[in-house]
Order: sequence, then structure tokens, then C-alpha cells
Amino acid sequence: METASYPALRMRRGRSSPWMRAMLAEHRLHPTDLILPMFLCEGSGCEEPIATLRGVSRWSIDRIAERAREAARLGIPCVALFPNTPQQLRTDDAAEALNSDNLICRAICEIKGAVPEIGVLTDVALDPYTAHGHDGLIDERGCVINDESVALLAEQALIQAEAGADIIAPSDMMDGRVAAIRLMLESEGHCDVAIMAYAAKYASAFYGPFRDAVGSTGRLRGDKSSYQMNPANAGEALREVALDIAEGADMVMVKPGLAYLDIIWRVKEHFGAPTFAYQVSGEYAMIEAAAAAGAGDRDALILETLIAFKRAGATGVLTYHARCRAADRRLAAEPRLERLDARGLGASARCDPSGRSLDRCTPRGREAATRSHGFRDDRIHVRHRPSGRRARRLGARQRLLGRDPALALARARSRCQPLCRGRCVAERGVAGLCLVDQLGKPRPDRGADRPDEHRIFHRNPRVDRLG
Ligand code: PBG
Repeated sequence: METASYPALRMRRGRSSPWMRAMLAEHRLHPTDLILPMFLCEGSGCEEPIATLRGVSRWSIDRIAERAREAARLGIPCVALFPNTPQQLRTDDAAEALNSDNLICRAICEIKGAVPEIGVLTDVALDPYTAHGHDGLIDERGCVINDESVALLAEQALIQAEAGADIIAPSDMMDGRVAAIRLMLESEGHCDVAIMAYAAKYASAFYGPFRDAVGSTGRLRGDKSSYQMNPANAGEALREVALDIAEGADMVMVKPGLAYLDIIWRVKEHFGAPTFAYQVSGEYAMIEAAAAAGAGDRDALILETLIAFKRAGATGVLTYHARCRAADRRLAAEPRLERLDARGLGASARCDPSGRSLDRCTPRGREAATRSHGFRDDRIHVRHRPSGRRARRLGARQRLLGRDPALALARARSRCQPLCRGRCVAERGVAGLCLVDQLGKPRPDRGADRPDEHRIFHRNPRVDRLG
């Protein structure tokens, strides 16, 4: 595909500055890519934190509109609602699922009344209502029975649509339920209510915290592998999606997310239908635990996983990180500081490989540096941190913009350092003294006999300094 080769083609040119990287980004994350799941509880004025989902709570109806309004303000287009049904209302026949005054229906009314501009998606499955925690009805042997369950699920979809739900999302994995729900909605005058089918939903170990959130942990008899998919299967996912689309699904979902990026890719490639990923509760918990353990930067982990869904072809992502991600984006989108930083790094100077400016050396000093490093200094151009007049100018500009110049300079500096190192490696490649591979490692064919240079160009900051 490429028409040129190194050195005419240098992939790193496309990564050389923040604006360049932003301009060449193939995928972007936008608040409208995100759907925020929210949990409901009875009572008033309640916020119940969920222990296994740190940072996520259940909210009582009187506080749910406030949360939805906040999501709408952040640009999130849609929320997904899940009820924690009071334990005494959970029965073998899941009757509460059909109560048009149940928790979920009241929440739908509340949100649609208070924040009409946000979409409301509701789950169709019986697990928040059954005493046994399964998504359908069970027979006397404990098997989940398909067709009776489907009849109930269609009723459940209808009462949610009547309460004002915009998107019905069957998550139960019974056969034939999309067709039954579509037929029900059409015949009852809800032709505008969309269906997002949990089409490829796997029997996953990543749902644990969710089951805590909706209060079904400890209730579930057996597991859900007689209706949710085997994680070993991919071709089967395409058959499931094909069926759901044929039955009238407007959008499909793959769930969980990160462990099933290949499925998202295949589904999107094959059908081209709007395809959503559900980054489920266990994935959220895993990221939070990693960040809390100091194993990674939280924001970076969130962003990297979310952009992975976009790269895999997802139209959007249901994620418990939606709020913080959408909020972060707004911060990141504040343009001035970013642009200023990029400009601050635009200065060019002659530097030695540790980033020290050669321009400010005395001629003797420069000569000595050149000799001891064994390269011609005029080949070495790095973008170096603002200093002296340039720093003062930057500070003045920052003050004009009403920002803290010290902060701006600190940011410019912290960004500059790795760039200096990166550029030195690149420029040395040109000088032909030490070719480096894309990771900055010396290539063995050139310079292998110069172990000192290898150390100089190692990109680990601790060994990056000169002797
Ligand atoms: C209910 C349902 C589940 C999830 C969404 N809807 C749990 C399950 O199937 O057991 C999981 C979501 C998550 O883990 O975040 N059928």
C-alpha cells in the first residue's frame, strides 16, 4: 500500500506534535458516542453507593432526573435504566415486571418529563423481578422456558414503551423475542420506539458487579449459559445478529466489550447496522481497581479502552465511565492552553542528545560537545522548552488569556522533555551514526559497535542522560 520507504517515508512525522496527532487521528471519541447506565432504587432522597462498582450509585426516582440532566448537559444522548426491585416484589412469575407503576416505569416518566431531550433506553429481561435471578421463567426442573418467557417479555416491553421509553433493549437472549416485541410495539401504536437487541450477549464472568447493583447476587440458581452465548464462539454471534436484524432490531449490541472486540468488528463489517458495545460492570471495576492500585493512569485507561471500541467499529458504547469521560472531554476541548502549548514547543534550537541547547554554549563548549558525542551538531535540531524571552512571552500571553503562567510553563516543559529525546533519536538516524528502529532501539546493522551511543539514545529517561 505504501509507495515510499524509509527515509522518504517517516511515519513519525505524523506523530510529531499534538496538533498533528489530533489532525491525523483516525477515530475520535465524542460524548454522543456514550450511553450512561443508571441504577434505580426505591425511597426518596436516596443515593446508595454500590460497593463493587466504586463511584456508581443507585438513585431514588426523585433524584434520577437530576442525574439525567447532568448527563444531557455533558452531551450524552441517552441513558440506560436498571431497577433494583425491592426483594419482597421478586417472585417466580416476575409479576412486578408487568406493573405499570413499577420502579422503572416511574423513572422513565420522571426523566422524560424533566429532561425530554435525553433518550431513555430500558432493559427487557426478567432478572430484576424473578426470585431465582434468571432472565426468563423457569420450569419445575429449573430450566429457563423460552416461549412463555417471550410472551412476558413482549408485555414488559409494552409497559416500558407506554411509560415513554425511547429504546427497548432486550437483554434476555430468548429465541424469537425481538420479533415478538416488534409485533407488540407495532400493534399497540409504538412504531417509533426503537429496539436495540443485545444480540451477541455472552455468558460472562464480567457481570458480577451489575448483579450486586440490581440485587440479584446470591439469588441466581445455576448460571445463564443455557441462553447467553459461549465465549468460545464467534460465528454463532453472526447468526444471532442476523436473526435479530431480520426480526426487526434497529440496532444491535455486543456484550461484554473489551474481550469481544473481534465480534464487534465482524458484526459491523458483516451487517453495517448500528452496533453498540457494552463495556460492562466487571470491565469498569477492573479499570478502577487497576487505577487504585497505581497500575495505570485512570483517565488514560478509560480513554484507551473507549477508543478501542470505536476502532473496532462500534457506533457507541454503554459505559459506566460515560459521565467522567464526557466531562473530561469538555476540559480537553478547552482550546487555548492546548494550542499555546503546541506553539510553545514550536521553537527550534540546536541541542545535544540530552536536550541541552548547543546554541547557548560557547563555541569551545559546542566544539567539545560535538567531538565527544561524535556527530555534527548542525544535524541536531530539537524542539526545546521555552526559556528566557520566549518563556516570558508565553507567560504574558497566558496572562492575557487569564491563565496561570506558571502552570502553562510547567505544562510546556513537561511536554517538551520526551519530545526532545524523541527528536534526537530521529535526527541521529539521519546522521547515519546510529540507526534506530521505531521503538528507538539501535538497529544492529549500524552502530552496534558503539555501545555508548546505544545508551545515549535509549529512551528511558533514567539512562537517557549523557555519561
Ligand atoms: C440483565 C442484564 C445484565 C447486564 C445487563 N442486563 C446481567 C446479566 O445478564 O446477568 C450486565 C451489565 C453489566 O454487567 O454491566 N439481563
